[in-house]
Amino acid sequence: MIKIAPSLLAADYMDLRSEIAKVESAGADYLHIDIMDAHFVPNLSFGPDMVSSIRKITDMTLDVHLMISEPEKYVEKFAAAGSDIITIHAESTRCPSAVIGKILDLGVKPGISVKPKTPIGLVSHLLDRVSLVLVMTVEPGFGGQKIIPETMDKVAEAAGIIRSRGLAAEIEVDGGITADNAGLLASKGAGVFVAGSAIFRAEDPKEAVSRIRSRAEDGALMS
Ligand code: DX5
Ligand code: ZN
Repeated sequence: MIKIAPSLLAADYMDLRSEIAKVESAGADYLHIDIMDAHFVPNLSFGPDMVSSIRKITDMTLDVHLMISEPEKYVEKFAAAGSDIITIHAESTRCPSAVIGKILDLGVKPGISVKPKTPIGLVSHLLDRVSLVLVMTVEPGFGGQKIIPETMDKVAEAAGIIRSRGLAAEIEVDGGITADNAGLLASKGAGVFVAGSAIFRAEDPKEAVSRIRSRAEDGALMS
């Protein structure tokens, strides 16, 4: 099943309640929340207090993407804030496996993410313990970038590993996702589509959610 995860990074921060309501009523599956620390990535965004405020106003699955160094120091705070999924970067910590263990112990679903230049092979041994593998399709840090086409092969590679080992991890793609590339990505095995600009900056965010979903569904039929 295709899932759509609007990224709050591109929302109107003066009107977050209605921005969230808009995508929730559009049938979005996850709300993607990007956490940046100006160290792992050259930008700053939200902290755990933002996640707990959002938790109070929506039942959507909160898909928290930690683009921070030493995530082991913060996963407890993000779990307590009400995150449903906490994704860490393979490049952000000495021992991703231990952090995944910590997230599981906190009763939250773990995800593992790789930047465009990080090979999938680096995380293949973790795929049986995570709910989600996030293949970054742009360099993390900023919304509104264009997809890096080479990253699509990594989606196919992750899908191959997951299929051959009979695993349940979802494949999420993030960065430069639009209705125009969703079909191809789905045909390669992506199941969760993060989109910031393509949804929140669209004239009609509801229509944008439906369009990305229907293109992805068409693409998935070709996989
Ligand atoms: C980028 C973030 C993305 C970002 C995507 O580092 O991880 O989630 O919000 O934005 P768009 O969809 O505009 O590329
Ligand atoms: Zn993200």
